[in-house]
Amino acid sequence: MVKKELEITPATLEWQDAYKLLVGSILPRPIAFVSTMDRKGTANAAPFSFFTAICADPMLICFSPMRRGTDGAKKDTLVNIENTRQFVINIVSEGMASKMNDCAIEFPTDVDEIEEVGLTKERSIKVSVPRIKESLVHLECELYQVLHFGDKPGAGSLVIGKVIHVHVNDGLYSHGRIDTAQLAPIGRMAGNIFTDPLAKTFEMLRKTEKR
Ligand SMILES: Cc1cc2nc3c(=O)[nH]c(=O)nc-3n(C[C@H](O)[C@H](O)[C@H](O)COP(=O)(O)O)c2cc1C
Repeated sequence: MVKKELEITPATLEWQDAYKLLVGSILPRPIAFVSTMDRKGTANAAPFSFFTAICADPMLICFSPMRRGTDGAKKDTLVNIENTRQFVINIVSEGMASKMNDCAIEFPTDVDEIEEVGLTKERSIKVSVPRIKESLVHLECELYQVLHFGDKPGAGSLVIGKVIHVHVNDGLYSHGRIDTAQLAPIGRMAGNIFTDPLAKTFEMLRKTEKR
């Protein structure tokens, strides 16, 4: 049987269609629920699923705020991080999923989104940006590097953060490991579909034999 494939050159697509190819291919994605603060001290929070770890020593993570689809402006999260050079990644557990989702609404810049959606601010230890109390794991970060890839709708930036402090809820951490079942992290698929990563997991041992 002849294998049929679609051949696509991303540069020929509208950015929205290129975006759909990305989010339909790279999944499930973890969610960085990023809290920041503006120059006046107003807190902000927004979810970003273009998010991953980079390395352990130094402990670096990264996420990508895209430019606003409407006018190509920088999202508040990026503006705040460039101003204060600080942010917190709040890990999203299932119980707080819908409030996290509400934080993706485009609120005016001066609205404290954490309070607005009914979440609770908690003081951080090493950064002045608040963390979100309902999260069970928090990564306090200082800005390590930011790279920009254009300024039109569909373009974006890569924010690299150095984790300088980690909070793990009591009872979640033993023998140097986080208990995934208790953390109950959610992931993002394409569009409005999310996963509970515990719904269907399987174990696969890593082979150690060298040939
Ligand atoms: C689960 C989820 C994941 C998201 N991931 C991203 C992302 O990776 N990059 C991005 O630019 N926007 C992402 N968004 C949209 C932003 O959260 C949204 O634009 C938000 O309003 C930005 O807020 P801000 O202007 O306060 O930074 C995501 C939304 C949701 C609900």
